[in-house]
Amino acid sequence: MNSSFEAFREAVADERRRRSVLWREGRPWHVLSSLQFERGDLTHLFQTADRLRTIEAEPNGATRLLGLLAGRRVVNLFGQPSTRTCESFVAAEEKLGASARVLSDLKATSFSKGESVEDGVRTLACFYDLIVARHPDDDFALRASWALDRSERPVPVISAGSGRSEHPTQALLDIYTLHHRWRGEVDGRRIHLVGDIGRNRAARSFAHLLTRFSGISLDITCHPDWAPEPAFVATLRAGGVEVAFHDRLEPALDRGPDAIYLTRLQQEWDQAPAELGTDERYVLREELRERIPSTCLILHPLPRVNELPESWEDHPGLAIWHQVRNGVWVRAALLTWIFGLTA
Ligand code: NCD
Repeated sequence: MNSSFEAFREAVADERRRRSVLWREGRPWHVLSSLQFERGDLTHLFQTADRLRTIEAEPNGATRLLGLLAGRRVVNLFGQPSTRTCESFVAAEEKLGASARVLSDLKATSFSKGESVEDGVRTLACFYDLIVARHPDDDFALRASWALDRSERPVPVISAGSGRSEHPTQALLDIYTLHHRWRGEVDGRRIHLVGDIGRNRAARSFAHLLTRFSGISLDITCHPDWAPEPAFVATLRAGGVEVAFHDRLEPALDRGPDAIYLTRLQQEWDQAPAELGTDERYVLREELRERIPSTCLILHPLPRVNELPESWEDHPGLAIWHQVRNGVWVRAALLTWIFGLTA
C-alpha cells in the first residue's frame, strides 16, 4: 500500500472505507476505532469472550488456552500511565500463551532521541507479532498502523488509548458488560454519560459504539468547557442515537436511565491542574440515591477520583469491577480473532 498518511487517515475516518484498511480476510487487523466494529462483529467478539472464559473454567481449560497464542510475541507500548488496560492486555496475552513484553518508559527508548514513530514501530515489528500502543498523541497508533502497512513486515496495532480521541478496547469491554448484565438486550436503552466527554477517550469510544444499537437515548451531563465537539455529536445522531445535553445530574437522572457511565475529569491535559477531582454537580452524591433504582447500572472506565464515591459499592447496579474483569476476556477474544484462531 503506497497511500499517504493523510489518505490513510481519511480512509479510517470514512464509514464506507474504514473496513478496507483496518480489516483483513474478514478479521480485524489494526484496532484503532470503536466505529470499526459493526453489530455482528460485536456479537462474534462477545461469543468468543464467553467461550474463552468457559474454557478456562473447564478441567485443563487454562492449559488449553495457553496453546492458542503459543510462540507469539506481543509488545505493549504504554507511553501514558495505565493499570487496568496494560495489565489486562498482559493477562490476556499470557492466558493465551503469548509472551507479553511491556515498554512503559518511553524515555528509555530511542523515541526520546527523536526517532520517528515509523522507525520505532518498524523496529518493534522485527521482534514482535503485534503491537499494543497507548500514547498521548491522538495519531500515534494510526501512524504506526500506516507505517507498518507499507513495510515489509506488517504486524497489527491495537490502540490501548489514543490521546483524547479513542480507546476502542475499553468501549468493547463496556458494551460487553452491558450486554451481559442486560442479557443481550441493549437496544432501546437510555444511557446517561457524565463528565469530561470532550477529552475522555473511553467515553467517546463508548458513545460511538452505541450507534451500533437501535433506539438508544443518550443524556450527556457535562460542564460546557468539557463538551464534545459538534462533529462528535453529529456522528452519534447520524448513527441514530438521540442525544440531549444537561449541566447537572438531576434532570438526566429524572429521565430514568438504564445505565449511568461516569468519567474522571481529564486533568492531565490542563496546563496548571487545580486540585484533583470534579465539582459537586458531576459527582454521584449520596443524596441522589433515591433517584437511582437498583436496576440502574453504574459504570466507570476507572480510575475514579471523587466522581463515584466508594459508598456506591453496595448498589446492586454497580458494574465497575465486572468491567475490569470483562476487559481481560474481551481483549483475549480480540487477540484470537486478529490471529485467526478458534478456541
Ligand atoms: C481511561 C483512559 O486511560 O483513557 N482509563 C482506562 O483505560 N480504563 C479513562 C481515564 O483515564 O480516565
